[in-house]
Amino acid sequence: MSNYHIKHLEEYFQVYRKSVRYPEVFWEEVAEEHFLWRKKWDKVLEWDFTKPEIKWFQGAKLNITENCLDKHLYIRGDKTAILFEPNNPDEEAQHITYNQLHERVCRFANVLKSKGIQKGDRVVIYLPMIPELAVSVLACARIGAIHSVVFAGFSSTALSTRINDCQAKMVITSDGSYRGSKTIDLKGIVDEGLEDCTTVENVLVAKRINSDIDMKSGRDHWLQPLLDNAPTECAPEIMDAEDPLFILYTSGSTGRPKGMLHTTGGYMVYTAYTFKNVFQYKENDIYWCTADIGWITGHSYIVYGPLANGATTVMFEGVPSYPDYGRFWEIVQKHKITQFYTAPTAIRALAKENLDYVNKYDLSSLRVLGTVGEPINEEAWHWYNDNIGDKKCPIVDTWWQTETGGILISPVPFSTPTKPTYATLPLPGIQPALMDENGNEIKGNSVEGRLCIKFPWPSIARTIWGDHERYKNTYFSAFDNKYFTGDGALRDEVGYYRITGRVDDVIIVSGHNLGTAPIEDSINEHPAVAESAIVGFPHDIKGNALYGYVILKETGEVRDRDNLRREINQLITDHIGPIAKLDKIQFVPGLPKTRSGKIMRRILRKIASKDTSNLGDTSTLLNPEVVELIIKDAL
Ligand code: PRX
Repeated sequence: MSNYHIKHLEEYFQVYRKSVRYPEVFWEEVAEEHFLWRKKWDKVLEWDFTKPEIKWFQGAKLNITENCLDKHLYIRGDKTAILFEPNNPDEEAQHITYNQLHERVCRFANVLKSKGIQKGDRVVIYLPMIPELAVSVLACARIGAIHSVVFAGFSSTALSTRINDCQAKMVITSDGSYRGSKTIDLKGIVDEGLEDCTTVENVLVAKRINSDIDMKSGRDHWLQPLLDNAPTECAPEIMDAEDPLFILYTSGSTGRPKGMLHTTGGYMVYTAYTFKNVFQYKENDIYWCTADIGWITGHSYIVYGPLANGATTVMFEGVPSYPDYGRFWEIVQKHKITQFYTAPTAIRALAKENLDYVNKYDLSSLRVLGTVGEPINEEAWHWYNDNIGDKKCPIVDTWWQTETGGILISPVPFSTPTKPTYATLPLPGIQPALMDENGNEIKGNSVEGRLCIKFPWPSIARTIWGDHERYKNTYFSAFDNKYFTGDGALRDEVGYYRITGRVDDVIIVSGHNLGTAPIEDSINEHPAVAESAIVGFPHDIKGNALYGYVILKETGEVRDRDNLRREINQLITDHIGPIAKLDKIQFVPGLPKTRSGKIMRRILRKIASKDTSNLGDTSTLLNPEVVELIIKDAL
């Protein structure tokens, strides 16, 4: 039996049982066998969810970049570490080998040092998906600086809020970025954001679009000349396992964004372990995760997890619709991608388009498909399975969160049989529990409840930067001695988990709990429907009633709207029961989405409740214009 690489279902169960019975022995073996430590730990785990305090591999010394770079130089120095695919398909892809990446990270780390950055300082990175983004992340880790990547689609206000929250000393950005046929003036956004910040001493600027930008003397520096003059070696800062590695902001259901703090040793072990198993990574694979490094998915499964395994990881600068809707599949063919990991929202968007965009390309290199970020509806799952995976590639529906650092529930492909819309089984070391409203654990199968985790795993966030009390209140107060995920889940008759959505999205109608995801699944099965979102609105008798926002496929065909409404409600009745029928159905041109592709239900709830006077912060929306259109036709 190998702890590190699970190859069949029986092995999964054996490894899982061991990880629950003897968690410390299990993680110690994984950590010992597969990573480079400058000094071993004194204690594998110390934890107390009431404080809360969690420490893994205490006393151990390491640098994560030695594990992501140096370790590989001897055996795979000339292997491609990062395969960069630019926005414009006519621009050549770049194959950056482990040797080259090591040198680039070292040079960059030396530049950071020359600008006064030291261990523990915060560096905000606001870059598009270009190699400098991964390099700067690793350069921070090389010298022990804490990186905080801010997705380069966020506004200047969102950027300055984050810079101020973590008191960053430096910002790394570029002159601009390409996004499909558009260019974005990133440096202008940084300049605007910095008007409200006092802690930033230096701004490093990478050149990407060759635009004419203002450089503030003394503060702003072009990156390339600094790199050219920097030494090619930089000794790694030796870190404690529990030293901070990065802060990543995630929005809460209320209040300011939360700066989730991840530390070094446990995060490295867990992301590497889960990458290996969830993607069944093999030495010559070409792995592609389409996320942006501005999100946790990019941190854990574009940068750290893959590089710790010596993998080739693809970074894609562009968007799925440019120059046309075949771009993803063109890249799969071109680079012979073996594992492809994306979000349901992207799958749904592409499934709406003509199948010719898929069929034009040879996708036979694919072995594993992944999804993340939201529940995947049944229709999208089948479309992905049939058209992209040709029914031969297991789909790993990976459930996790910014806070969890790595994937917690997912099939292990070729071991765990998949089931549409189910994240299936917990990975080794993960002990889920479903809780009822009174705080009791619901045991047994075929049950539904609030999803908690009972035992720490190595990559759990250790705190919210600067606000440990909020960390405690948000995650450890709802249920005694458990980490509360904020999600609802059901466990089926064989123990498979299906995430039903945020608990705050659960709508109680006439005393019945209804998850939005299964209702949306039913609606989306209608052949005329492209996407939908359900929210609750106050109802005199039922307490809440359901309001559905539905996007129709653009077929050019004129349909009778009332008839469509009846058909949609019939589908819901058939799938769930008449209780879940929608009181109102509004056909809309789009849904308000955050830049990470999540529907902003808060806004939809307000519109459904006819309370549009104060919609709150809409600055993080990808498509703010759609809100006005929805309000205009609201029912
Ligand atoms: O509600 C769950 C949903 O996304 C939330 C976490 O969002 P974030 O911190 O932005 O991280 C996303 C990438 C890991 C979860 O609480 N979610 C994530 N993955 C899934 C999911 N819901 C259903 N199925 C998933 N596979």
